[in-house]
Amino acid sequence: MSDLYRHPEHYDIAFTWDLGPEIEFFGRVFAEHVPFPVRRILEPCCGTGRFLLELPRHGYSVTGYDRSPEMLEYARRRVADLGDPVAARAVGGDMVTALFDREFDAALNSINSIGYLLSDEEIVAHLRNTGASLVKGGVYIVHIACEWEGEPDLGQNTWTMERDGLSVTTTWRIESEDRDARLSQQVCTMEIDDHGKKSSHTFRETLRLWRHYDLKELVSRSQALEYAALYSESFERLPPGTRATGEMGNLYHVLRAV
Ligand SMILES: C[S@@+](CC[C@H](N)C(=O)[O-])C[C@H]1O[C@@H](n2cnc3c(N)ncnc32)[C@H](O)[C@@H]1O
Repeated sequence: MSDLYRHPEHYDIAFTWDLGPEIEFFGRVFAEHVPFPVRRILEPCCGTGRFLLELPRHGYSVTGYDRSPEMLEYARRRVADLGDPVAARAVGGDMVTALFDREFDAALNSINSIGYLLSDEEIVAHLRNTGASLVKGGVYIVHIACEWEGEPDLGQNTWTMERDGLSVTTTWRIESEDRDARLSQQVCTMEIDDHGKKSSHTFRETLRLWRHYDLKELVSRSQALEYAALYSESFERLPPGTRATGEMGNLYHVLRAV
């Protein structure tokens, strides 16, 4: 397990931005692709619970699961502060095995978290279980970046966020892409300034190197989901047949439960 997720208090500062536009986009996807009102959402890899806090404000109830004890503990504390156990809850679970019996209308997997599943077998198991956790016709929105056509280049991917006098400057970069092994080696550095006390951590992340057609093939192997649509980083629907590449950033793949 990556040490990145042993520091939820730093992760949460670094990755907290306004989720409103993304949640409104999810609402549009639901309206377009799901033939019934979406109320109950599942979030695999819920992390510190960013979406667990925000989705209830938009009228959804949400269950998140995560395999990191530290992230889960942090998410649980925040959900408890919400004071509404029906609107949001965080439970322990692993993407390979987590299964809920058709309890949800939709599922969300944000910022490439599904990339922590490295083998085809793990991914198919996850897609099969997530499809079976959704009511038929419900959707799973998966947010991932695919392999680059040219050299991977995230540009100046450094940002600083601050909360209560604690500032976190994060730099995320792709170190290499192994196209044969389908692995992407990525490096995340966090420089912390905690009221003048400075420290820094570097985390090495191994993620699945996605190819657009891999995802489609694995979805069809799951027999529980079908590929429905692709949306850009700026929430625009891309024409069928668009080939997703790293140059296009993190895209939203919409999968429908069958
Ligand atoms: C990039 S964070 C995303 C968290 C959250 N979705 C968000 O938007 O902030 C990735 C999360 O995936 C979790 N994770 C990684 N592999 C997992 C697995 N196999 N099963 C469940 N959670 C996993 C990590 O513990 C971490 O909390």
